[in-house]
Amino acid sequence: MASERAPVLVVGATGFVGRKLVQELANGGVPVRALVRDPERARRLLPAGVRLVPGELLAPATLRPALAGVPVAYYLAHSMTSVRPGEDFRARDRIAAEHFVTIAGEMGLERIVYVGGLGDDLPGRSAHLASRQEVGRILERGPAQLTQLRAALVVGEGGSSFEMLVQLVERLPLMVCPTWIGTRCQPIDRDDLVRYLVGCLEESATVGRRFDVGGPGVYRYAELMGIVGDRLGARSRLVVAPVLSPHLSAHWVGLITDVPSDLARDLVEGMRVDVVCRDDRIREILPGPLRSFPAALEAALQRRRPRPRRARQWLTRAFDVLPPESGLWDPFRALRRIGA
Ligand SMILES: NC(=O)c1ccc[n+]([C@@H]2O[C@H](COP(=O)([O-])OP(=O)(O)OC[C@H]3O[C@@H](n4cnc5c(N)ncnc54)[C@H](OP(=O)(O)O)[C@@H]3O)[C@@H](O)[C@H]2O)c1
Repeated sequence: MASERAPVLVVGATGFVGRKLVQELANGGVPVRALVRDPERARRLLPAGVRLVPGELLAPATLRPALAGVPVAYYLAHSMTSVRPGEDFRARDRIAAEHFVTIAGEMGLERIVYVGGLGDDLPGRSAHLASRQEVGRILERGPAQLTQLRAALVVGEGGSSFEMLVQLVERLPLMVCPTWIGTRCQPIDRDDLVRYLVGCLEESATVGRRFDVGGPGVYRYAELMGIVGDRLGARSRLVVAPVLSPHLSAHWVGLITDVPSDLARDLVEGMRVDVVCRDDRIREILPGPLRSFPAALEAALQRRRPRPRRARQWLTRAFDVLPPESGLWDPFRALRRIGA
């Protein structure tokens, strides 16, 4: 009789990346166990065959049943989108990772696969990136072998950075931007990231290693906004204001988009540094086509529910009195103005 395949644990299964990963693992016949904080909500979000184990990373005793008999776990938990205003997401993510590593060690977990943030480990990096790197270091400390995939902007409906980008363009005909619109980013389609995550399970060459993952193109944020604007038929007019602080622009983003100000501040801070792959070793180990940003955007927008654009229509009419020939409104000209 064929032996039964061991289950794989997904922590963060109800999140933007986790939901898609669970679906793909389940489609591939992998038995999935999901650690979830709200089983009723998770039942609505996840495929029927997935075993839900109620648990909370901040309550370590709840992790034992989830980890029992599991050799491999995906760690996709992240409290940035679920903390209350004023709460320190870095401290929560640090404690959560420490608990996980301790209990995983006790329960004999062999492997962890984690998605961290792309970007250099330099002073001045955003709190968000520093926190993602810190979690990676904590997960590495335990006896389980860590595979870390480092990603920049993940493109897909419902992703926090993606929504911030699209909603800004969708809602603002005129944008006053800090110089981060000249920073470079290498976005990856969520389906491609999930293909890599699933591939890591089968491919032993990924065990215990760290990889940069990105799509086929590198863009400046102004270019990404231009591509989103062209697709929506609503290109935003960008004005570069070098003195605009991340703090101020985060308030602005929080006001205009569904992204809360605290989260926007961390995301905007992260846009000050280039997030580009330093190597593409993962492409040799797990080859396959990667979606370009325009194609990934198209797929995400097709799946996304349309949002009201009343404010944009009203504002567009108001700003139409300003001459487009001035060049102020073109993101690429705006970039040249700041010398990027
Ligand atoms: N989205 C991007 O553009 C992007 C870019 C680069 C890297 N990444 C990385 O990819 C990973 C997944 O990101 P995501 O965008 O999918 O995140 P997300 O949508 O915010 O999902 C976070 C998940 O973590 C769970 N969680 C949070 N705190 C928890 C706790 N204390 N105990 C148990 N579960 C907890 C949440 O559960 P609830 O549903 O109960 O809240 C949710 O399932 C993260 O490591 C992130 O840094 C994402």
